[in-house]
Amino acid sequence: METPPRPGRPILPYAFAPVPELDTDAYDRLAREVRGMLGIDLKQYRPAQVWRRVNGFAVARGLPDWDALVARARDDASLRQAFLDMLTINVSEFFRNAEAWDVLVDRHLKPMLQSQPSVRIWSAGCSLGFEPFTLAMLVQEIAAPAKVRILATDLDETTLARARFATYAGPQMAGVSEARRARFFRRDGDYWTVNSELQALVTFRRHDLLADPCHKPFDLICCRNVVIYFTEPAKAELYRRFCDALRPGGILFLGATETIQNIRSVGLERAGLTFYRRPV
Ligand SMILES: C[S@@+](CC[C@H](N)C(=O)[O-])C[C@H]1O[C@@H](n2cnc3c(N)ncnc32)[C@H](O)[C@@H]1O
Repeated sequence: METPPRPGRPILPYAFAPVPELDTDAYDRLAREVRGMLGIDLKQYRPAQVWRRVNGFAVARGLPDWDALVARARDDASLRQAFLDMLTINVSEFFRNAEAWDVLVDRHLKPMLQSQPSVRIWSAGCSLGFEPFTLAMLVQEIAAPAKVRILATDLDETTLARARFATYAGPQMAGVSEARRARFFRRDGDYWTVNSELQALVTFRRHDLLADPCHKPFDLICCRNVVIYFTEPAKAELYRRFCDALRPGGILFLGATETIQNIRSVGLERAGLTFYRRPV
């Protein structure tokens, strides 16, 4: 069979590398270079974290600093892709923080699927597809009459290509029970491919949360572990746009450690620990 895509890279090696002090002019230059080369707007990311990660990544690659990294990446496509992977952090897994998915099913997803003729879901920052396929499995298990569509978007085209491939290596299947493997996957040696019925529920598309207009309307938006390095103003603006993209009564589902600082100012209300609702 075809070689399956690489799993996401761990972030720890970059986090502990020695780093020069943050220099605002240099950060501005780095942001300009990255915008031109990778299409990411670093002005909307938290400078201290990005600075540490970029310089740490350069050192881990045997380069003295970010300047050398950028110069090398201009002519080296695989380094450019690794640089992008590092900045966007595509680490993910099926049923990440399982208890939150249980709450999603019982309090939000079941009632939606059982009371509406159709349900539209957006997995924003979907990485390698673990999140949208987790959603697709849950939708199939609830087996309600609603017609369901799941839009899965990410900034990174290479990550999306790997997500569309829908094939995962054994260790990436850790969160999937035997029963779910048997029902939703086809096994080929050490690899598992999502079955075509589940794949048909999900549409993958490139979308930059910091730059592109949001599609709408949605009943549920999942944006988990994506905004970690966004600045507070960039997060607030994104949450306002999510609110606008939700139907009244629609739910925003965030990562386990993510909270919205000033909920009312973005138009949402609390609907559980990491859940927010657009008021009806
Ligand atoms: C850590 S993964 C999270 C994956 C999944 N949501 C989860 O919780 O497991 C973060 C993903 O967000 C994507 N991402 C980062 N910045 C983004 C942006 N501005 N627009 C869209 N996606 C972005 C990255 O490419 C990466 O795949």
